[in-house]
Amino acid sequence: MTVTEKNVRDAAPSNAPAEVVDWVVKIADLTKPEAVEFCDGSQEEWDRLTNQMVESGMFTRLNPEKRPNCFLARSLPSDVARVESRTFICCEKEEDAGPTNNWADPKEMKITLKEKFTGCMAGRTLYVIPFSMGPLGGPISQLGIELTDSPYVVCNMRIMTRMGTKAMDLINEGAEWVPAVHSVGVPLAEGQKDTAWPCNDEKYITHFPETNEIWSFGSGYGGNALLGKKCYALRIASTMARRDGWMAEHMLILRLTDEKSGKQYHVTAAFPSACGKTNLAMLQPTIPGYKVETVGDDIAWMRPGPDGTLRAINPEAGFFGVAPGTSHETNPMAMETMKENSIFTNVALTDDGDVWWEGCDEPLPEHLIDWQGNDYTPADAAEGKKAAHPNSRFTTPAAQCPIICPDWEAPEGVPVDAILFGGRRATNVPLVAEQYEPAHGVFIGASVASEQTAAAEGAVGSLRHDPFAMLPFCGYNMADYWGHWLDMQKTVGDKFPKVYQVNWFRKDEDGKFMWPGYGDNSRVLDWIVRRAAGEVEAVEGVTGLYPKFEDFNLDGLDIDEEKWNKLFAIDPEAWEAEMKDTEKYFEQFGDHIPAEVAEQLEKFRARIAAAK
Ligand code: OXD
Ligand code: MN
Repeated sequence: MTVTEKNVRDAAPSNAPAEVVDWVVKIADLTKPEAVEFCDGSQEEWDRLTNQMVESGMFTRLNPEKRPNCFLARSLPSDVARVESRTFICCEKEEDAGPTNNWADPKEMKITLKEKFTGCMAGRTLYVIPFSMGPLGGPISQLGIELTDSPYVVCNMRIMTRMGTKAMDLINEGAEWVPAVHSVGVPLAEGQKDTAWPCNDEKYITHFPETNEIWSFGSGYGGNALLGKKCYALRIASTMARRDGWMAEHMLILRLTDEKSGKQYHVTAAFPSACGKTNLAMLQPTIPGYKVETVGDDIAWMRPGPDGTLRAINPEAGFFGVAPGTSHETNPMAMETMKENSIFTNVALTDDGDVWWEGCDEPLPEHLIDWQGNDYTPADAAEGKKAAHPNSRFTTPAAQCPIICPDWEAPEGVPVDAILFGGRRATNVPLVAEQYEPAHGVFIGASVASEQTAAAEGAVGSLRHDPFAMLPFCGYNMADYWGHWLDMQKTVGDKFPKVYQVNWFRKDEDGKFMWPGYGDNSRVLDWIVRRAAGEVEAVEGVTGLYPKFEDFNLDGLDIDEEKWNKLFAIDPEAWEAEMKDTEKYFEQFGDHIPAEVAEQLEKFRARIAAAK
């Protein structure tokens, strides 16, 4: 049976405006679902859908005594990460998508999508998910509606966004909204049994920035399917932000409080995917006198506030964090957050119904069920097999984080004092460097490069340019985005935060990390906020302004001046080579490269020459 127009109209709640209902009718007519449900975001809805998924085999309920209201899902090996090669920006001119995006002609893509979506929801329920990115009704927040045939997506969206009736109320009051259509792309024939993780081998993650639309086909995983996150809050939002004078960034937001003075600082930080952003957002300072509170762990939307400062909100309501490597040692706050009401995807299952992953607190048990549903023993580990997929995730409500900032839902956002850019760099990049001038800050962001992680398909470990950590997330020409940054710096003026380049991942000759990282990154934050407040001096270096050894808090660490110097050592030859590579990387953008960014490359070269 296929839903009729009448079925849709009957299912629509009274607060769904006509334009929304008409759109759902149109999509139902195209995709031919068996049922339609308008989601209200209630506990009853969550309980019903999670029970239903436990019955269908898509979810395993975890031991309620150990992890109340928590579930495990296992995807297919062909659907474990964002698929950048199948992610498209569909705008009129290819040049506007730029050389770092996959471009597709919007008209042609619409024809392809029409074909793919025709009848693709047969045998499934079409869920209508109204959601708000950012606090409901806030001045920086935005609305959307995702249509999906995946109950897994509904439950994840309930954690990751403000989803349900209240979002629909705002749409009903006339707020603008972004339409997003998602299907796993596996229609079911009459009587055909579903599989635990339906997905299609052919995937299309498509964005239409000129009409603010999102269409995603074929994947049920993470950013491919939870369309509020990367698709909306970064790719579409970055284009909206450029048009309307704000910023959509791949950045965590944290509050650092100096407990003695009570002074609060807010820091945002961009790192390529799976570089420990969640750990930094929930950092437990090892130096006394500071407290960190989390505002967000992945995305920041920033706008100048009435007082002229740049204000940031976290558009999300949950964390979609990488599980492996997360433990009470590396990130106790994340571990506490995911104690209940969470969804785990592609981690291993213990015999007592709890979760396990490489690098968690517990030693490897004698027996597990691995992320593909197979028995797993220490013999498998000895062969190098992983029990949890390297990109396995937890989806968990931000409000459950013990150090969630009391202002994390402040509609007007928090004032940003400093912006960090980082990456995984075994060589070359010093622990911390401050921009010389605003355009240098943009150059620092533009030249971010990092070793590839498992968050996207690709060869793990190879160095890839990831400007502003936005490479897979910028909805328009990357070089124009740098131009937008320069414009925003000019608009905000002196109140625009300074930019800092950081690198926790530098290794010594023996391949050992030179910096302890984790809680000790508070030492870097301490210097940054003192610098931002103009309290300490800095020394001029090749990549930027460096801390003075005597100003930097190293108490209790085994780092003497010699080791410190190694953390900041610059090899001019290596940097010369890196600048050649950067220049080549920039060349692909042609005359879209802002003159001020090109000028920074020359200034950098002059500093290298002087250091020789
Ligand atoms: C993420 C990513 O999931 O950046 O946050 O890939
Ligand atoms: Mn991310």
